Amino acid sequence: MSSVLVVHGGAWAIPNDLAQASVEGVKAAACGGFAVLKAGGSALDAVETAVRGLEENTVFNAGHGAALNAVGEVELDSIIMDGRTLACGAVSSVKNVAHPVSLARAVMEKTKHVMLTDRGANLFAERIGVVTVPTDALVTELEREDWIKHKSFDTEVREEFNAQWAHDTVGAVAVDCVGNVACATSTGGIRNKMVGRVGDSSVVGCGGYADNLSGAVSCTGHGESILKVTLARLIISHIEQGKSVAEASQLSLQYMGDRVKGAGGAIALSPSGQWSASFTTERMAWAAVEDGVLWYGLQPNERKKEQLS
Ligand code: GLY
Repeated sequence: MSSVLVVHGGAWAIPNDLAQASVEGVKAAACGGFAVLKAGGSALDAVETAVRGLEENTVFNAGHGAALNAVGEVELDSIIMDGRTLACGAVSSVKNVAHPVSLARAVMEKTKHVMLTDRGANLFAERIGVVTVPTDALVTELEREDWIKHKSFDTEVREEFNAQWAHDTVGAVAVDCVGNVACATSTGGIRNKMVGRVGDSSVVGCGGYADNLSGAVSCTGHGESILKVTLARLIISHIEQGKSVAEASQLSLQYMGDRVKGAGGAIALSPSGQWSASFTTERMAWAAVEDGVLWYGLQPNERKKEQLS
């Protein structure tokens, strides 16, 4: 069985000056995650590696470079899920952890719970020896400037939101050589969000879902809309009913647009290695690796190809 890994670097109207860096960032993360699969690693290890790469890259709204909340602080959300057992771990409103995806994995593997939030997540990080960083170490100058520029945010005004928003959540899905699937998603959420606001990214079935019986999904876009339609699980339901991963994603994103006027994107794959990258925003940086080929895109219907050596 051949392995596949797909990543996204977030939906919305990625501006031209960030376009190339976004594409290069997703390509590098996809290759990094795929290297794990190529070496015989699990889908779970691969999605964690890919998302760690995206969290490190300040171009994306996750980890270092994440969006700032209403008081100018970073609050990070993340989820990881193992399709073998439906085990999942999540953290929300984490303030000084550089790799929330790895903390989410620790919640999954070292606790009896699914999600830890805010102070509890930080206490847990401390207890298990996760290195913490000063909150400001995760803030970039560019994000601070954008935060000042866009201090007012109205979640009802979708057009305006779409136009002003440069980048969003990151995520990865993978299937390994024995057919196990996994997903991971990580975000700084919506810029200027209320303190304590939790979006879709850390919520199972919303920001991500993985089940060996159907497939794996990671979502990006307007968190409140994704939560209302449980986007990741909705896509999985369509796959369970026989739709291809592309059809399932497009139908679900269209439903979210029609039903709650929400825009976003999703990457999805099946245990047999069928995959897709879909979005209803202006752009979404994505990349996929399969059979020695790197696929990537940013604009609607764009699908570029590079042969890997
Ligand atoms: N999709 C990320 C968020 O809304 O928090």
